[in-house]
Amino acid sequence: MRVRLVVNGSQAAFDIAPDTRLLDLLRDRLGLMGAKEACGRGDCGACTVLVGDRAVPSCLVLAARMDEPVRTVEGLAADASALRESFADWGGLQCGYCTPGLVVRTHQLIESGECDTSSNDEVRQALAGNFCRCTGYNGVVAAVQHATAGHGTPSGA
Ligand code: FES
Ligand code: FES
Repeated sequence: MRVRLVVNGSQAAFDIAPDTRLLDLLRDRLGLMGAKEACGRGDCGACTVLVGDRAVPSCLVLAARMDEPVRTVEGLAADASALRESFADWGGLQCGYCTPGLVVRTHQLIESGECDTSSNDEVRQALAGNFCRCTGYNGVVAAVQHATAGHGTPSGA
């Protein structure tokens, strides 16, 4: 089947199988390798992208069902640069496998204003769907807080 998608501001048409996952189209057809596959079943957040203004696990949705623009971590490059720097500066990343998903999810939190990022508990709760095996989350919370309001401290997270 032929589908049209807007990804990171550019529209393109693709011939794909009806069951093609958005994650596979992004990685295999567009070479956007930021979204990662880990669990492959919607549990870990490594594959998170924005569909419209929602953060969505791209392993769980079909490319053919995208009726809103898709943004990946690559498409947020300029918008999320402070956030990415903050993850690096505040210990929010180690191996980096989870980082694109966390950056996308955090960017969406900031855009939507749905979370009080000065609250450790709210940030942790909001990021509960994004697993990180390395950092223990203290650095992640500190990075989010530092990037948004400057309230975070590595020891206080
Ligand atoms: S790989 Fe998609 S949520 Fe884990
Ligand atoms: S930095 Fe390694 S999984 Fe999060």
